[in-house]
Amino acid sequence: MAYDGKILRRALQKFEEDKREREAAFQSRQETIYRRQPRLRQIDAELTSTVSRIIASALRRGTDPLPAVEVLRDENLNLQAEKKALLERMGLQEDCLEERPACPLCGDTGYRNGQVCRCLRQYYAREQKKELSQMLDLGGQSFETFSLNWYSEEYNPTLGISARENMEWVYHQCRRYADNFTPGGGNLLLTGEPGLGKTFLSAAIAREVSDQGFSVVYDTATRIFQRFEDQKFGREERDEADISRILSCDLLILDDLGTEMTTAFVQSALYQIISTRLMERRATILSTNLKIDERNNEIARRYTPQIASRIEGEYQILPFFGEDIRKLKKERQ
Ligand SMILES: Nc1ncnc2c1ncn2[C@@H]1O[C@H](COP(=O)(O)OP(=O)(O)OP(=O)(O)O)[C@@H](O)[C@H]1O
Ligand SMILES: [Mg+2]
Ligand SMILES: [Zn+2]
Repeated sequence: MAYDGKILRRALQKFEEDKREREAAFQSRQETIYRRQPRLRQIDAELTSTVSRIIASALRRGTDPLPAVEVLRDENLNLQAEKKALLERMGLQEDCLEERPACPLCGDTGYRNGQVCRCLRQYYAREQKKELSQMLDLGGQSFETFSLNWYSEEYNPTLGISARENMEWVYHQCRRYADNFTPGGGNLLLTGEPGLGKTFLSAAIAREVSDQGFSVVYDTATRIFQRFEDQKFGREERDEADISRILSCDLLILDDLGTEMTTAFVQSALYQIISTRLMERRATILSTNLKIDERNNEIARRYTPQIASRIEGEYQILPFFGEDIRKLKKERQ
């Protein structure tokens, strides 16, 4: 898993905040109970000191700690029983004075066996979603709201199927891709005319994959190449981090490829992105109006044959057909 440092820091901050809040809430609950029954405070204090006495005596008597430990344990059991009875009389749960971690897997440390624990990953996903939703309509554009009704059922002789059937297949591929996402699980190229749902479906994938706790970067080609240029000319400090995020996130979605001003610099930046991510087995989704047919390979012409060849060889091509949904929606208003 490749985490973005900035987002992970924000996630950790929230994580610690929540932990402190839980601790404070526990202490105030504990204090209320102690006030109602001061004997419980004494018992808890004694229990705590009993534990340290057991340890100290075991250490001191190195030779035979057992008898001392047994005496202390009996003492301990009496106190436990008294505590239990008192709590019962107050109508409280037996364990209401035990502080338990919210996540038993990691004891609320956020890490387990050197890995980010499931609980902290949820915080990460939430922070990332905030970041993604600044750019994407993550609320409105999801697999659930994607409608096939915008695509004609009429048989298309060039395609050999209808636009609807084609889109059913595309939708299914996208959904499967998102549901079974792994960073090494492959790449997609969404290609087709404007207004056919490419950005919509890539937003749906971004949302799903991000919810699973993977790091996702979504941006338009223009802005991504701009960051490479800024870095080249040392325009901003944060660009180094931006570039490494673009190159190493679990899923990169580069939208609207081909709408940027294509220069030699852009060609080489695109090559760097595509080949680095392929070599490191990280997933990439490109969306574009450019064609990549055998007869008409606009990607090879606009960029380089090396780029086109990598896309053809390593990306699943999802062709979008139909009528511009932007126009259709406007007409039906
Ligand atoms: N299947 C769908 N159901 C409902 N609304 C859709 C669907 N597909 C697209 N839309 C809507 O139509 C508009 C255009 O879709 P989108 O932005 O995804 O097109 P695009 O293929 O990315 O176009 P472009 O190539 O111009 O970027 C958006 O407002 C989007 O919300
Ligand atoms: Mg688009
Ligand atoms: Zn945990």
